[in-house]
Amino acid sequence: MRDSPSHYGSITRCLHWLIAILVILQLTSSFFNILWEGNVYSQAIVQWHTTIGVGILALMAIRTLWAISQLRHRPEHRGALQKAAIWGHALMYLVLLLMPLSGMAFTWGLGYGVYVFGTAYWTDADVPWAAAFGQLHAPLSWFLSALVTGHILMAGYHRLIRRDDTLHRMLGR
Ligand code: HEM
Ligand code: HEM
Repeated sequence: MRDSPSHYGSITRCLHWLIAILVILQLTSSFFNILWEGNVYSQAIVQWHTTIGVGILALMAIRTLWAISQLRHRPEHRGALQKAAIWGHALMYLVLLLMPLSGMAFTWGLGYGVYVFGTAYWTDADVPWAAAFGQLHAPLSWFLSALVTGHILMAGYHRLIRRDDTLHRMLGR
């Protein structure tokens, strides 16, 4: 279950792939809706946007605590490119925490409350600083998309060009 210098353990891998699927659902459903408003895929997912987003926040809180507890056992990153990967991963943690927080601040600050499984919490607030922080939500989503695209390209580079075991250690092989 724990991480080791040769591979990521099952808890890290489950959290990685579960959050990856949820984040990709959030980003693609929202962006497809801008490009092709009302399409079936976006309609099915966007109605769960705030619920999935709050779920990602809860999973990211667990993942951050777990990552801190595993820091000294994780696969090593040596060399300049690998050090860049560590910073890239840390940046993704930060943005994955700020994304749902800014989304919640957006709806809470404007008084709509935060919808989770159809129930609105903290309605009727009027908090200008929260609404202002919420304005970061859309720009952050573009930044996160760029980070995730770079991350997937780098995973492909390791697998197809360098042919090393970077992808395998996240797949558990
Ligand atoms: C990691 C979690 C989340 C991701 C990846 C995400 C992603 C996105 C994206 C891509 C958009 C469209 C941006 C655009 O129009 O250019 C969006 C809009 C929006 N999201 Fe999220 N979201 C997340 C969590 C949340 C949460 C938790 C809430 C509220 C509880 C929320 C509320 C909103 C609202 C109200 C909008 C429309 C307003 C706006 O465009 O700024 N989101 N989100
Ligand atoms: C929204 C999608 C994704 C996010 C937010 C994400 C985020 C992360 C983060 C933060 C790490 C650092 C390890 C950790 O703490 O868990 C990581 C590692 C990794 N991810 Fe992703 N990931 C995503 C999708 C993917 C996809 C689609 C692939 C494969 C094509 C992938 C392959 C990997 C690999 C191979 C590692 C290990 C890299 C290393 O040890 O240097 N990820 N990912």
